[in-house]
Formats: sequence, C-alpha cells, structure tokens
Amino acid sequence: MNFSVLLNNVMAEAFEKAGYDRTYGKVSVSNRPDLCEYQCNGAMAAAKAYHKAPIQIAEDVVRNLEGNAVFETAEAVKPGFINMNISTAFLQSYCNEMAVKDHFGMEFPEKKTIIVDYGGPNVAKPLHIGHLRSAIIGESIKRILKYMGHETIGDTHLGDWGLQIGLIIEELKERKPELPYFDPSFTGAYPEEAPFTISELEAIYPAASAKSKVDADFAERAHDNTLKLQGGDPACRAIWQHIINVSVNDLKKNYENLNVSFELWKAESDAQPYIPDMIQSFKDQGIAYVSDGALVVDVAEDTDKTEIPPCLVVKSDGASLYATTDLATIIWRMNDYHPDQMIYLADKRQDLHYTQFFRVARKAHMVEEDTRLNFIGFGTMNGKDGKPFKTRAGGVMRLEALISDINDAVYEKMKERYDESELDEKTVKQVGLAAIKYGDLSNQATKDYNFDIDRFASFEGNTGPYILYTIVRIKSILRRTEITDAFAPTFNADASGNACLKALMKNLCGFADMVENAAEELAPHKICSYIYQLSDAFNGFYHDTQILKEEDTEKKNLYLSVLVLTKSVLETCIDLLGFEAPERM
Ligand code: ARG
Repeated sequence: MNFSVLLNNVMAEAFEKAGYDRTYGKVSVSNRPDLCEYQCNGAMAAAKAYHKAPIQIAEDVVRNLEGNAVFETAEAVKPGFINMNISTAFLQSYCNEMAVKDHFGMEFPEKKTIIVDYGGPNVAKPLHIGHLRSAIIGESIKRILKYMGHETIGDTHLGDWGLQIGLIIEELKERKPELPYFDPSFTGAYPEEAPFTISELEAIYPAASAKSKVDADFAERAHDNTLKLQGGDPACRAIWQHIINVSVNDLKKNYENLNVSFELWKAESDAQPYIPDMIQSFKDQGIAYVSDGALVVDVAEDTDKTEIPPCLVVKSDGASLYATTDLATIIWRMNDYHPDQMIYLADKRQDLHYTQFFRVARKAHMVEEDTRLNFIGFGTMNGKDGKPFKTRAGGVMRLEALISDINDAVYEKMKERYDESELDEKTVKQVGLAAIKYGDLSNQATKDYNFDIDRFASFEGNTGPYILYTIVRIKSILRRTEITDAFAPTFNADASGNACLKALMKNLCGFADMVENAAEELAPHKICSYIYQLSDAFNGFYHDTQILKEEDTEKKNLYLSVLVLTKSVLETCIDLLGFEAPERM
C-alpha cells in the first residue's frame, strides 16, 4: 500500500476507536518540521460536528494511538493539532517491502488505454525548438502513465497536409522544372527516388515561404497546389509522399537523439478520409450551421468566463481547418484504439483550439461520455535574457544546434572535474540530455522558462547533471563493495540513531505517493522535485555516515541496502523523465 495510505489508516482507526468518524483521520507532512514530522488537523474539523473542544478530541485520539507501529510519538497540542514523529523501524520495514516488490509495491489504478499526442512536427520543416517541449513533456507523461500500468500509445500527429506542402511543390517546380511531376503529358510511373535530399528540402521550405510573402502569384500557385494535393492529384501526391519519407527519416533520427519514441507515426492526412462523413453527421445532428459562408458549431457554455466563439469546421472555400483535422483524427483513434483518455500537448497559446474541438467532439457524440480529453498547454522556452530563444544570428534555433550547444557546455563543465581522457562522447551526450530535459521538466509545464545553458549544465543545484552525479556516486560506492546483483537488501539493523538515514528513508517511502500524484496531475515536475530532495537526502546521508568502513555487518548491510534502493528509485525516476545515467562520470 502507498505510504500515505498506511499513515492515514492508522490515524483513521484511532479516530474511530475514540468514537469519531474515521474520515477525520488524515495525515499530512508537517508544515512545522521543527516541531514534528507529520501532523493531523482532523480534530479541528471534527470539533464542529461533535460540539466538543478540538483539544479534547485530539487527546482522545492520541490515547487511542498508543501501541501503534507507525508513529513513535503523537502529541495533542492546543488548540487541537496532533503532531507525530514516525517510527524509524516502520520506515525500515516499508523500505524492506519496497526493495522486494515490483514497482516498489505501488498499487495500480484501473488500467486505461491512453493516447498521447505529443509530436506535432511539420514534415516540411526541420525540428526546431518549438517542438522540443512537446517531445520532452509528452514523452515523460507517456512513460509515467505506462509505469502506472496503463496502455499508452504515443502519436506524432505529423503536420503534412497544409499550405507548407503546396509551397514546397511550387519551389521545387522553379528549381527543377524538368522533373516528370511537372510535365502534364507524363503518364508513366513517378520515380521511386526522392527529388531532393533532406538538406535540399530544408532549404526549399524557407525559400518558398519567404517568396510567398512578397510574390502574390507564387503564393496563389502554392495554394492551388495544396488544393490539388487534397483533391488527390497524382503528381502532387507523389511529391508529398517523397516529402514525408525524407522528412520522417530525419525526424526519427532527431527524436532518437532525444530518447523520444512514438508508437504511431500518423499524420494529419490520415484523418482526411473521415472528413466528409463527419461533416455530414454534424449537419444531420443539427449542430452545424452556415455563418458567413463557413460551417460552424456553437460551443459556448453558460459557465464560460471568457467568450468561446463557434468552432469553424469548414472554411467558406470548402477547405478543412486545424479543428476539422483534429476532429476527424478522433474518429480513427476511437475506431482503432477505443482510448479512455486522449492527451494533447501543444503551445498554451493553442488553448482555444482545444477547448473548441473538445466541445464539438462531445456535442457530436464522437467520444464516450467518460472519455477524458486533456490539453496540456506548455509555456515558451525563452533565452537566458527572457526573450524568445533565437540563434546567435537571430534565426529559429534548430534542435540539432541546440543539442550540440548544450553538449559543448557540458563538456566544458566536465573538463573542470575530470581528466579529458576519461570523457567519452556517450557520457557527454547522456549528461547533455539530462541537462536539457531536467531543465525543461523541472518547471511546471504551463510556465515559460529561460533556457540557461550554464545553469542547466551545472553539477550543483537543482539540475539534471546533479541528479546523475548522485546516481553515479552510488554506483561507484557499490563498485567498491563485494555485492552483486544477487544482493538481497535487508533493513533490519537498528537505525534509530541516524537522523540523516531516517530522512533519506522517509524520502524513499514517498515514492509511490509521488508517482501517483504526478500521473494524476500529468505533472513530470513533481518527479523532478522529488528526486532533487531525494538526492539531497542521499548526499546528506553520504557525508554523515561512514558506509564502507562500518564494522557491524548488519549495519553495513542496512547502509548498502539503502544505497541500492536509492539508486533504483532514482534510476526509475529519471527513466520516467526520459533520460539515463552513465556508469561513470
Ligand atoms: N503541428 C502543430 C504545430 O506545429 C501541432 C499539432 C499538435 N497536435 C494536434 N493534435 N493538434 O503547431
């Protein structure tokens, strides 16, 4: 059982035995650690219901706590608080269970099928930092939910169906007019080989986009190409397929470098076949109507604090929109996977879009009543100066460039600590990834944050490298012992005199509660603050206690057991965040 459940149970029982309702017996971590470790304020609330002085209730409850195995001390203090300290022996027995049980003894909730939509890159453009947060946060949320026993499916939801494709086609035509795609009399099969490499493709899009802003005819032709693509024109479809192939190959490499992977590589275009019937059904259900030539669905609700305008589902020229595609995507997702929940990640400025199409999906009964739809809108990643992140030249930062910058910074920091001959590229990359991911995930997703390479790459403070350093430190201590993988942790020696050890065990025992909470709130930052505290607690213990020199075998065994458990909890947590620790650093 989760640690908090055990504490609550003991307290609830004491309330019950004393003649009060057990629901008052809730235990929380003390907000006055100088006075006690845990507290219960239930007597204050019960006082009203039982018309008694709270201190009297608190005293009744404390009397009934006598002899319990969880709290070493319990004290009623005026006006009616109950202050407790936890028993070290109880922490040890809980750690014992954690060490041997699968998932550290965590209880699983009911198993759900959950789709996480967290890619969103556009096939025409290289991955840039705009897609970084989605990938990092989405991957972590997916891993957390999977750890909780759910069936999770990550989908890239590639942007492959908009004007960007029409623009590329037009630019390609100007650059290589001799290609068969542009010969109207061509009747053969189009070439298998793509008419561009990834670097050519990366140059084509920005050039086309710039041209379309100054050349109205070019923009018009690009728009026509887009319509032709959507209408099924074979030449446009063939080029589009090449764009996807070349681009997806490159995207996969980039995501792999980030330790991010998707179960599905679906795209906006996969939703297109469902659109006509969907629109018809909106009309048949009487929820869509024509307004200014466009088809819209009302989604405002009485309780709205701000105005939620109708959701546009078909443009006046008949084209589909962002919402149309997202709605039609729900159809195949429901058909093929029947998810209990769908979680979307995107920049928080897209909030209205999600509110609108979620409401249409419900109104049109495209999901079950209890299907959960969540939007996680994340804030902007700014530069160190608090302004939107740019390259030194002022352009959009490519993800690859960002990763290489952080690896350079990590390398410099590591050079201060280690001999250069010890630094291999793999370790630098692992530390670099931890720096980026932890730097991002340690912030609440909705908040903007400043990407500060120096701070993120530091080995001190609330950073990824600090966490890795702690894990590596444990690994290196363990290497100096004779213990093997077969080592069975035991927490039996008397540990009551060691305050740092007690603090560390208390942290360890909070693991299941923490993960459960992070999953419920879809909040990876809770894992970061947990492992930061856990690392601090470990380092406190390490500096305070002679581990390897301990002569009492039982005690030494206890210390090593704590090391092994701390290491595996930390490793599990960073895996949930999407990075891993090197063997040495
Ligand atoms: N491609 C979009 C963008 O770059 C993000 C897509 C997010 N997912 C979704 N289902 N709308 O902004």
